[in-house]
Amino acid sequence: MKANLLALTFGISTSAAQAAETILGVYILSRHGDRTDKRHPPTKLTKLGYGQILASGEYFRSRYISSNATHRILGISSDEVVNSQINVVTTDDTVLMNSAQAFVQGLYPPIGTLASEKLRNGTVVGNVNGGYQLVPVHVLDNSAKNKEDTAWLQGTSGCTNAIKDSENYKSSKEFEDVKSQTEGFYHSLESVWSDSFTSEQSDFTNAYSIYDAVNYALIHNETIPSSELLTTEAVFQLRTLADKQQWGHAFNESAPVRAIAGSTFAADVISHLENVIESKGRNSKLAFNSTHTAHSFHSSVSHSSLLSILTFTVFQTTVPPSHSSYSPTKA
Ligand SMILES: *[C@@H]1O[C@H](CO)[C@@H](O)[C@H](O)[C@H]1NC(C)=O
Ligand SMILES: *[C@@H]1O[C@H](CO)[C@@H](O)[C@H](O)[C@H]1NC(C)=O
Ligand SMILES: *[C@@H]1O[C@H](CO)[C@@H](O)[C@H](O)[C@H]1NC(C)=O
Ligand SMILES: *[C@@H]1O[C@H](CO)[C@@H](O)[C@H](O)[C@H]1NC(C)=O
Ligand SMILES: *[C@@H]1O[C@H](CO)[C@@H](O)[C@H](O)[C@H]1NC(C)=O
Repeated sequence: MKANLLALTFGISTSAAQAAETILGVYILSRHGDRTDKRHPPTKLTKLGYGQILASGEYFRSRYISSNATHRILGISSDEVVNSQINVVTTDDTVLMNSAQAFVQGLYPPIGTLASEKLRNGTVVGNVNGGYQLVPVHVLDNSAKNKEDTAWLQGTSGCTNAIKDSENYKSSKEFEDVKSQTEGFYHSLESVWSDSFTSEQSDFTNAYSIYDAVNYALIHNETIPSSELLTTEAVFQLRTLADKQQWGHAFNESAPVRAIAGSTFAADVISHLENVIESKGRNSKLAFNSTHTAHSFHSSVSHSSLLSILTFTVFQTTVPPSHSSYSPTKA
């Protein structure tokens, strides 16, 4: 599996210091796994995507949860899930919901007979469904237009002003410039996606939707029309243009409201980590948030087939941190 993991920790990153760290709580923001393209709704998590996100959950298990985890969270249950220790949140969307379920399967796999109960009459009930663990996944309220089916990512913010400002991007000079500069490029490739987009739709306005459809096809479709046009350079160009377009819709230094989804999310991370500190870890220690807000937060990270994940940890250390560090790691 190819997954880019961004580990965001604040503290010293030398191994001596890490040994002195005690992790108190973690917040994980995850993108969903590989899914079908938005151009052909309803979108769904693919088998490939299920495997990716399950592996991601397994990775985080080995990092934060299992008894021999490298960065075990203080006091977290290693095998049998304790629901008060984990808070999983997503939106009412098939792709995101299934991703969240797959992730927690990796985090807390079936435990066989380990979980059992003894009834009054002496009968022991254990190994139900192989000891499969049921972890509640909480649902954020969102309306139909915010689902993965829609190409509209900013929609998740639910903020009318942010959505309006995001649309302003299309009337900016920067947008117009990129659109006219890339017209020839998009038209030269339109026979690849003529099933899905008309010639008029084949431009920078649909950069993300087009890249999304091409990316899905490149992974799953054996018969792509004019596939010879999809050179490595062309695909890279489609992807970077999609990134650029989404970034433009999600961020503008002179218009802070445009990044409201990212700001709200950042506040949520802080509030979760503060709660861990204030409750001395008695409340939820691990928060998992699978939303597509991820886009407005770090939309320059590539789309679709690569899983992007951000983690935030709170820990105490016996050695005072001397500086902050940001360490991207690959798994
Ligand atoms: C932890 O234990 C499991 C099961 O015994 C093993 O597969 C895994 O490699 C161990 N991980 C580490 C980091 O030692
Ligand atoms: C014990 O109770 C359970 C649940 O009511 C029942 O299914 C089971 O047959 C009982 N076992 C015996 C030995 O009576
Ligand atoms: C950014 O916001 C400013 C102020 O609202 C606006 O004038 C400009 O066109 C915007 N630029 C882009 C690229 O959206
Ligand atoms: C592959 O692409 C072709 C042309 O766009 C389309 O007709 C076909 O349904 C696609 N097949 C799959 C498995 O997505
Ligand atoms: C998950 O993230 C969304 C988007 O930022 C936020 O609205 C929501 O409150 C978060 N939920 C939890 C419990 O972390």
